Amino acid sequence: MTLPTLDTERLILRPRVRDDLEACLAMDRAPGVVRWVPGPWHDPIAHRAFVEARLAAVFPDGLGYWTVVERAARDRFLGWVLLIPVDGIGPEIEIGWRLRPEVWGRGVATEAAARLIAHAEALEIDQVIADIHADNAASRRVAAKIGMVEESPVERDGHAGFRYVARLSPRPTAHRPARRALPEGRRDGEKGVPEAPIRTPSGGAAAARLMRPSSSVWFQSAPPARGRRECCR
Ligand SMILES: CC(C)(COP(=O)(O)OP(=O)(O)OC[C@H]1O[C@@H](n2cnc3c(N)ncnc32)[C@H](O)[C@@H]1OP(=O)(O)O)[C@@H](O)C(=O)NCCC(=O)NCCS
Repeated sequence: MTLPTLDTERLILRPRVRDDLEACLAMDRAPGVVRWVPGPWHDPIAHRAFVEARLAAVFPDGLGYWTVVERAARDRFLGWVLLIPVDGIGPEIEIGWRLRPEVWGRGVATEAAARLIAHAEALEIDQVIADIHADNAASRRVAAKIGMVEESPVERDGHAGFRYVARLSPRPTAHRPARRALPEGRRDGEKGVPEAPIRTPSGGAAAARLMRPSSSVWFQSAPPARGRRECCR
């Protein structure tokens, strides 16, 4: 798996690792954090198993979960952001964010998510989605601030929400140079841009190979837990 470390003015986004497990669980248990996100959060065993499965999952190159830390305090876990095939399966690519309540309201989610959008552009992903609970005003605001557009109502597990979409690049028919050596949006220290562009959902065989559950690229270890949305819902 290749997942680059990304940086912003204030933040470092580093690959989320097994050592982040307890911090992730503690964050989820904090009041209000999973209020708008269906999941096994109130069953301690299932909750731990879910996060462990996501930590063990191997996503396509350049996709996964990043732990968010401040440049000034790199040992302090602030939360995570993600860019993964939706529900761990695809073919769409979803973006998501979850932070400890102590850091809410400081623009951290927006700053981190905007960096992931630039990273998605560097990967030549053409569309990123987020399904967000209708009452999750903070998350909807983050999506809007990074340029996502509210496109359609969605309903999951009996909850009403909205699909936000970011369209990132022209379709493959557009005449533009391939971004290989130094993709647009890539910064110093960013590694791991895949050889082949990932396109969704109309990107052809390469993307299909990357996203299919049966692909050896996709499941190099435990498959990601599915059936529950860990991202925006
Ligand atoms: C969603 C979340 C990541 C936002 O993190 P954050 O760092 O506070 O976000 P930002 O500070 O970048 O931006 C939040 C925006 O929402 C606004 N906001 C916050 N609460 C709001 C509310 N109840 N109603 C309306 N707007 C609200 C803020 O004012 C800010 O907008 P502004 O910059 O225009 O003032 C954080 O609240 C969180 O972790 N929530 C729990 C997990 C979750 O729901 N994740 C998303 C699942 S879809």
